[in-house]
Amino acid sequence: MIGILGAMEVETRALVAAMTDATLTARPGFEIWDGTLFGRRCIVARCGMGKVSAAATTQHLIAMRNVNPVIVCGMAGGLHPALRLGDVVVGSAYLQHDVDASPIFPRYEAPGLGIDRFESPPELVAAGVEAVQAFIDAGLPGVWLDERRAFGIDTPVVRSGLIATGDQFITETRRDGLRADLPDALCAEMEGAAIAQVCYMNGGSFLALRIISDNADASAAVDFKRFAENIAPHYTLGIIRELLRRI
Ligand code: ADE
Repeated sequence: MIGILGAMEVETRALVAAMTDATLTARPGFEIWDGTLFGRRCIVARCGMGKVSAAATTQHLIAMRNVNPVIVCGMAGGLHPALRLGDVVVGSAYLQHDVDASPIFPRYEAPGLGIDRFESPPELVAAGVEAVQAFIDAGLPGVWLDERRAFGIDTPVVRSGLIATGDQFITETRRDGLRADLPDALCAEMEGAAIAQVCYMNGGSFLALRIISDNADASAAVDFKRFAENIAPHYTLGIIRELLRRI
């Protein structure tokens, strides 16, 4: 069973609306819809923001519903200077930038696991890149021209690489430190590496697709809110539709 997670309601809204025969299970802090999406049986879940909520939801889905792979589609703040709003990062590796048990364990290493970067299978990454490119080539269906203009979104690009996860919304006060410490991190978000770790611990596969909603700078919160309402749901729906055709 494929599991599709989003942290926020705006990241699952369009998927749930597109599901047929969806049944809802509500739990404290997370919601699960079982149903059919674009002809595929799957589970869509809103896990809430942050690593603990994301990890708890993921463990629940794996243990109770046998979900594999787990796909996350949602927003992130851009770290790499070449990224623009509306670009999409397909994760190939995930690291928790706020894990630091040094000197007991090396910085970033998940204590006890001996790993700092959790990886997605290359075939899942390739399918993700193709899916995003197909969504871009189709002209970002559903995204209004006014909103594209407001965010300066012309022809977005898709990149794959490292995603940095932590329990912080990154703005200008933390961005430069993150860039200096992790020069290969493309974007920052708050769930991916936690979900990747849970999948790893259960022997499952994981992929994150992250839409750049802000530049993790002084205007991050303002950009994020407008992007979340008006753009994220359309990207999520379009990208997942293309991805389900390929996995
Ligand atoms: N998700 C979207 N934008 C983000 C940011 N700037 N920091 C962390 N998570 C995000």
